[in-house]
Amino acid sequence: MKKHCVLVSGGAGYIGSHTAVELVEAGYDVVIADNLSNSEITAVEGVRRITGVEVPFVEVDCCDREALRTKLFDRYAFDSAIHFAAFKAVNESVQKPLEYYRNNLTSFMNILDLMRATGRPNILFSSSCTVYGEPDRQPVTEETPRKPATSPYGNTKQMCEDILRDTVNASEGMKGIALRYFNPIGAHPSALIGELPRGVPQNLVPYITQTAAGLRECLSVFGDDYPTPDGSNIRDYIDVVDLARAHVAAIRRLIEGKNRSAYEIFNIGTGNGVSVLELVHRFEQANGLKLNYRIAGRRAGDIIAIWADPTRANEELGWRAERDLDDTLRAAWAWEKHLRGIE
Ligand code: UD1
Repeated sequence: MKKHCVLVSGGAGYIGSHTAVELVEAGYDVVIADNLSNSEITAVEGVRRITGVEVPFVEVDCCDREALRTKLFDRYAFDSAIHFAAFKAVNESVQKPLEYYRNNLTSFMNILDLMRATGRPNILFSSSCTVYGEPDRQPVTEETPRKPATSPYGNTKQMCEDILRDTVNASEGMKGIALRYFNPIGAHPSALIGELPRGVPQNLVPYITQTAAGLRECLSVFGDDYPTPDGSNIRDYIDVVDLARAHVAAIRRLIEGKNRSAYEIFNIGTGNGVSVLELVHRFEQANGLKLNYRIAGRRAGDIIAIWADPTRANEELGWRAERDLDDTLRAAWAWEKHLRGIE
């Protein structure tokens, strides 16, 4: 039987590369597209090494519609696309709003437009819990109202969700799912792929692992005076392999036509809220080391607390987060050690 082929745009990135692995291991053909603007070809090599499959890679910018058509859509017979290709730094998006709107919206609209024009029905979009803003109640369900976005980055996530909804509703046979990720962390257990931040990491776990590796002197914990039990922010940290598997479940749902409507939304989180200080201490315990950290002032724009109610994904996708947080934090450290050549 012919295998179903899935396009993974942004497949050289952190979540994209892990998803490509899980798709191949679930029996799908995969084609990776990426412009390598914020990722490395080594991630694609990692995907090939882990799976033992020579997954095709196309270097292309999704903002270039003509190149997408000739290099990708004319050449590969995928019926489904998972769109990861986007800029993702919240702060940078405040400094460079036009770049964020242009890149994140144009690339997604090009993919959607070509999928529709060539009769390819299934689209998955990488959304984010950032669409909920500061929620009034925890945990958040998919029915929790979205709040006005506080950054251009967050705004592009909301806008792309709406663009996907309106497009599939207007196009006979098309189906779309937005997955709202909570905070993805960790790395593949092989330590062959993981997060590859360029420059100073903005996200917590890469900053922790780089501090443990001695690349950064000290981790700043951004605030211990929030209205939370220990005063630091609370997030729902989800293992990137678990997150990748949620994409496989969502793609399967679309291919098998199990979706209840043309457009659906799922929260992808563990359901557990963990504070920054708890995470730091869990990292220390799980890896048997001491981390140099200090309490710093609050970071502008941070949400106090958010965690998921993943019931809908559990029930409808038959998916749940399985990896233990300690294993995830060990995998994050193993990946950093692999990168730095630490024994
Ligand atoms: C945010 C968005 C998320 C988005 C991501 C992209 C929310 C709730 N989440 O994640 O949707 O995809 O940006 O980058 O808006 N921290 C420190 N010290 C550090 C770094 C972080 O204390 O050096 C703290 C932060 O204050 C925060 C937590 O760690 O409380 C997690 O921060 P980070 O990893 O940057 O993710 P979010 O800001 O939650």
